[in-house]
Amino acid sequence: MSGKIPKYFITELLCRTNIVELIHARLTLKKNGKNYQTNCPFHNDKTPSFTVSYEKQFYYCFGCNAHGNAIDFLIQYENLSFIETIEELAIMHGITMPFENTASNNFYFRKQKLYLLMERICKLYKKNINFTDIANQYLAKRGINKNMIDRFLIGFSSSSWNNFHKKLNINKEFEQELLTYNIISVSKKGYIYDRFQGRIIFPIQDYHGRIIAFGGRSLNNNLPKYLNSPETDIFHKRKQIYGLYQVKKKCLKPTYLLVVEGYIDVITLTQYNINYVVSTLGTSTTSEHIQILFQNTDVIIYCYDGDDAGKNAAWQTLKKALPYISDKKTLKFLLLPDNEDPDSIIRKEGTEKFQMRIKNAITMSKFFFKNILKNVNLSSNDDKFYLSARALPLINTISSDTIRIYLRQILARMIGILDDNQFEKFLYEKEIKYTKKIPFQIKRTPMRTLIGLLIQNPSLAKIAPSITKFKNLKIKGLPIFLEILQTCLDNPNIKTGQLLELYRNTKIINVLKILARWDHMIIQKEIQNMFLDLLMNIYDKILEKRQEYLISKERIKGLKMREKKEIWSINKALSKK
Ligand code: UTP
Ligand code: MN
Repeated sequence: MSGKIPKYFITELLCRTNIVELIHARLTLKKNGKNYQTNCPFHNDKTPSFTVSYEKQFYYCFGCNAHGNAIDFLIQYENLSFIETIEELAIMHGITMPFENTASNNFYFRKQKLYLLMERICKLYKKNINFTDIANQYLAKRGINKNMIDRFLIGFSSSSWNNFHKKLNINKEFEQELLTYNIISVSKKGYIYDRFQGRIIFPIQDYHGRIIAFGGRSLNNNLPKYLNSPETDIFHKRKQIYGLYQVKKKCLKPTYLLVVEGYIDVITLTQYNINYVVSTLGTSTTSEHIQILFQNTDVIIYCYDGDDAGKNAAWQTLKKALPYISDKKTLKFLLLPDNEDPDSIIRKEGTEKFQMRIKNAITMSKFFFKNILKNVNLSSNDDKFYLSARALPLINTISSDTIRIYLRQILARMIGILDDNQFEKFLYEKEIKYTKKIPFQIKRTPMRTLIGLLIQNPSLAKIAPSITKFKNLKIKGLPIFLEILQTCLDNPNIKTGQLLELYRNTKIINVLKILARWDHMIIQKEIQNMFLDLLMNIYDKILEKRQEYLISKERIKGLKMREKKEIWSINKALSKK
């Protein structure tokens, strides 16, 4: 599908994007010489191995070999597809994707339409609140104030579509579009209905604040109490976090994110000035959720009911989160007293007491052992064995060395390993080795160095003498060099990151990427000379090849006049060296 987005558009997006700003909005970069650095977000990094180059519009990590341009970063960091990344960048720069009548653009266009329809119907639901006493009474009864209604765009869908339709003066054309996009439906008997009718509406917004779905609560506890929009092209429940847009509007990098279970919990806590509350939409936590949360904060606090169901949910979440915790990214748990949820308890206790609960949230490691020690009798050897068999595989999923070894230490003490030797053995034995991936290496040759220099400094193209007439000569790497050279000449001022983008999905991209981050050890002011020298060497090689060919031809069948002249001039050129 990527081929359907015109290349010029992608180049344009990359030209407008500053990779340093893009990454700095997500991680904190520090300037170091010409480049910017931070701890790598893609592996457990203790030193800042992640480097971003403004000049090259390119990032790379010495530790885990992650690398690429702005598009690659978004794909890797935000788990987006290529198309989603292009959309994301287009929104960021406020430009619309070029519209061509192709399958992929149709898909894009449908999505745009869906956003628009959701936005319009959301406004109508919201407006409808003012016209509906029962909705107002309900919200008043739940103690939700006007500020929160506005901030979370809370609305109401009347008990019948006809009623809603008339009251809000919905035109036929809009109604038809809502039907086409399956936002409202027709019953078997032929009536139009809205699946949310008779419900308070909680719009679900994405990262950019666009309305992508709704949750609806019945007024009278009719079942189901809550209903969500179905999955669509713009709504993926496993990746969505309710309230995150509102939190980020107030604070770009919140110190904590408190994850609660319900819509009302998010709204009430926010009303009580806890400004970092979000929720997953009635689904159990997914690893996507955890990754998104950790992209936005260093400390996630999960809040669950204190009953068995709540504790079990917390345990499931902990297991999912283990691979993502690190020295910087931690997880805590807040378990509430029986029969309370955040909404009910903060109304009883007030903000301060609730904040104390947050402050006293259980750390990940405490919760881990508390849970795993349930029903374990530490004086029984069988139990100790059972404990270690249960705990070790989980501990081993932690990719952070320090935390993994720390938890193993605690475990070793619990099961009473006292002997130093055995203790050591226990700590490191059967460790899953988190060795660095060995990057795909290629040998250094003059041609590769030449290509590398050009990719890293595309402006060198301007000083290269023309050697295109030799493009058919069988010299390894020459066609690639000439191809890149031409691209650089066709796109003056192109940067490394943008240049590589033009070769995404081609056979040579892997080699190009390696060459792009090759440390050639040549000091900046020598680069130009080095480039010309290498180019001259290759030029000589080309001449030598031609010379060899002509000499052997002369022996076999003699040379034409033109060829004799050529060999003479080649001899002259080579003898000048
Ligand atoms: P709860 O049943 O705990 O309700 O559902 P609540 O949040 O306390 O809501 P109120 O206070 O009674 O209004 C927690 C979350 O689970 C999802 C919703 O996202 C809800 O906010 N849920 C619940 C559903 O999706 N469907 C349901 O039928 C119930
Ligand atoms: Mn509740």
